[in-house]
Amino acid sequence: MNRTRLVVRLVAMLAVAGASPAQAQATGKLKIGLMLPSTGTYAALGNAITNGFKQYVAESGGKLGGREVEYFVVDDESDPAKATENVDKLVKRDQVDVLVGTVHSGVALAMAKVARETNTLMIDPNAGADELTGLLCAPNFFRTSFSNWQPGYAMGEYVGRKHKSAVTLTWKYAAGQQMVDGFKEAFEKAGGKVIKELTLPFPNVEFQPFLTEIAAIKPEAVYVFFAGGGAAKFVKDYAAAGLKNSIPLYGPGFVTDGTLEAMGDAGQGLVTALHYADGLDNAKDKAFRAGYMKSYQSPPDVYAVQGYDAAQLLGAGLAAVKGDASRKDDLIKALEAAKIESPRGPFSLSRAHNPVQDFYLRKADGRENKMVDTVVKGLADPARGCKM
Ligand code: BEZ
Repeated sequence: MNRTRLVVRLVAMLAVAGASPAQAQATGKLKIGLMLPSTGTYAALGNAITNGFKQYVAESGGKLGGREVEYFVVDDESDPAKATENVDKLVKRDQVDVLVGTVHSGVALAMAKVARETNTLMIDPNAGADELTGLLCAPNFFRTSFSNWQPGYAMGEYVGRKHKSAVTLTWKYAAGQQMVDGFKEAFEKAGGKVIKELTLPFPNVEFQPFLTEIAAIKPEAVYVFFAGGGAAKFVKDYAAAGLKNSIPLYGPGFVTDGTLEAMGDAGQGLVTALHYADGLDNAKDKAFRAGYMKSYQSPPDVYAVQGYDAAQLLGAGLAAVKGDASRKDDLIKALEAAKIESPRGPFSLSRAHNPVQDFYLRKADGRENKMVDTVVKGLADPARGCKM
């Protein structure tokens, strides 16, 4: 039988059985494109997201929405210059059903552009670029992490209760700038003043000139955003410069998540704010942590949680369409309505598809960012410019 006749006969058989060709597709493997860094400063973050995602899929018997999962993987190196070429490999060459990624805001912005142009569903398990759930919000884009504004704002609220002046320091790219903007908004609303905003290019780690400048300015507090290997180096340099005991250091929890072991004593006692903490009192987190330890022999961090929740969200959406990812409108409606039982605590999505979630104050103790308090309950990103 030639190919055309075979297709005609298949469609006829499906019609008799009452199924559409699209529903027939739902029995094949679900192609998931994982675009994450596995090299460079953010390599550990990408690996933790992959681990968390795969943990949920394994707990679900290797299936989402009843379909077996097949992974297509690209190392994006956290390099925005290579992002379009990398995402094209997944969308055009591998023809994935869903894109999952990434860590770096600049890479995510390029990835989301291709996802928009090709109407590919994209679930972002980390990158916080405010635009993605703001000015550039889109029906096909969902996030299980945070907007950069959120952790910055939460930390600004807390630091604003204790200090009147601050210097900020970060990598000069979307995530750094926006986490500083969120901090500044809340800190200054509380009566504080950001007296100097310092930046260096991503992923540079030559911090010495900035530490000298901070020591000369003598602010009441310092707020920084760094993550991964760069965060560990910064915190060690800050302590070695003798600043740890004279000017309190704050940041969003990315500074200390997954990095405490590398920081050694320099990281101990650091206070940060994030939507996850060690020692949360909920059964979902306890089961998640035990499962993660068993699979990967190391404790999970916020990135693992975000990856796990990306798979949970996708699973909830696909269950509603019986695994048929081509039913895009129904799939999007189901994703929008999902209530995620996350290890961080339950969350739902805003109209711009960003988590509305609690932010915790944490204190570094040993290898843990121990839960101290809830800084802001149910914090929603303002979704500035989003027309959805
Ligand atoms: C970002 O680029 O959006 C980002 C990277 C690491 C941690 C948090 C945010």
